[in-house]
Amino acid sequence: MNTNSTSTSVTAGQDVILAARDVTKYYEGKDQRILVLDSISLELHSGEFVALLGPSGSGKSTLLRTLAGLVRPSSGDVFVHGQSLDGPNAQVAIVFQSFALYPWLTVLDNVELGLLAKELPRQERRRRALAAIDLIGLDGFEDAYPKELSGGMKQRVGFARALVVEPEALFMDEPFSALDVLTAQNLREQLLDLWTEQSMPTRAILMVTHNIDEAVSLADRLVVLAADPGRIRADIPGLPIDLRRRKGAEHTELVDALYRLMTSPQARVEDILPTAQPGRAPAIQRPYQVLPHVAIGDLTGLVGHLAQAGGRQDLYVLARNLQLELDDLLPLVEGVAILGLAVAEEGDAVLTDFGRRFADADVLEEKELFREQALDNVELIHQIFGKLQVSPDHSFHEDDLLEQLQENFSDAEARRQLDTAIDWGRYAELFAYDDDAGTLYFETEDVSHDP
Ligand SMILES: Nc1ncnc2c1ncn2[C@@H]1O[C@H](COP(=O)(O)OP(=O)(O)OP(=O)(O)O)[C@@H](O)[C@H]1O
Ligand SMILES: [Mg+2]
Repeated sequence: MNTNSTSTSVTAGQDVILAARDVTKYYEGKDQRILVLDSISLELHSGEFVALLGPSGSGKSTLLRTLAGLVRPSSGDVFVHGQSLDGPNAQVAIVFQSFALYPWLTVLDNVELGLLAKELPRQERRRRALAAIDLIGLDGFEDAYPKELSGGMKQRVGFARALVVEPEALFMDEPFSALDVLTAQNLREQLLDLWTEQSMPTRAILMVTHNIDEAVSLADRLVVLAADPGRIRADIPGLPIDLRRRKGAEHTELVDALYRLMTSPQARVEDILPTAQPGRAPAIQRPYQVLPHVAIGDLTGLVGHLAQAGGRQDLYVLARNLQLELDDLLPLVEGVAILGLAVAEEGDAVLTDFGRRFADADVLEEKELFREQALDNVELIHQIFGKLQVSPDHSFHEDDLLEQLQENFSDAEARRQLDTAIDWGRYAELFAYDDDAGTLYFETEDVSHDP
């Protein structure tokens, strides 16, 4: 990868606008505290466009809201120009995924609303709102109501409402993900133009996104969070601006590397991204297996697709072909890896020999192969099966297992882990489950023997 030669930004200065120091955030769960952000330190400099990536639930939105002063850290501090932040950050305006416009207000009034907190004369408010509307390409729609606008136009109002306050830092939480592909593309390009031409008063941008391609196309710097708990896993420079606009080899390489990183939560970041800042926290090694919550049909569908593609496909291409967001692809790749059907290798998903056999098998054989793998590779299924074998009536109540799972997982996650194991185990016909009674049991005598 050729990211060594990249400069961070055309405009990047050294001023620190915003800084998180050792920010930790817990949320109160039902009967335990859940650690969402673990010791996050991050600086946002003047001139930087930073993209924040990470799996679902890794705390991206929480971190963004913490930096915006909307969420108070459990410990640690947020500093704005060196001053400790206490309450909403006045230097920040946020664009959300959902447009959150007031349906009874016109475009102009919706935009002006951004200025209500500032004590400005009415004339001045109007002048600024019109300028923001103009800047973002909403000219002529001042008097329209939200319901008359397309999704893309509504999001433009969202941008205008954020920019009208002339925020020093513009925050965006998945601003393009509710838009159709072309509209999103269009708006991204326009945002990049405004940013590079410096037509916005904004000095820094922080964007949360799921979309690796989007992050690479826009940002000067890419920060990747790891999940459970949210920690900074990688912090790397993006592409120089000309390479961002032109989707050439460097673009593909960086997208590919980020895919590889995010599909290998246990990998050493330096092995995948040589430009990553050293000393970042690796993903936590867990002494127990964590099942991804994916349906069997999706797992077998992925295997079938890979077989048709000749047994190997670039993860990035795979996501596009299956029309999956990275967040939907990641658990699937984990699932097939746990079952030994395919592995993630050098940014590709590759069928194993076993995966090939599985793809070629008919339904009956498929189940048999799946049963074999599930018993060998899925700890929880192995455990359920073993417990059923030793139980006198070949059945037991799920609470026995739930309690044990709750030692490692939140209550909700323990439930989901068990549900996934039950789902897979039932498909493999390794055991049966009575939803009402909450019991697991062997359906017939013959499967109670070793398979
Ligand atoms: N107000 C809250 N109370 C309790 N738990 C919360 C709250 N907000 C978020 N969480 C939990 O914190 C974790 C991180 O959530 P967050 O929304 O920050 O993640 P994210 O990375 O933005 O995820 P996504 O990609 O799905 O938007 C999740 O497990 C979520 O359930
Ligand atoms: Mg989020």
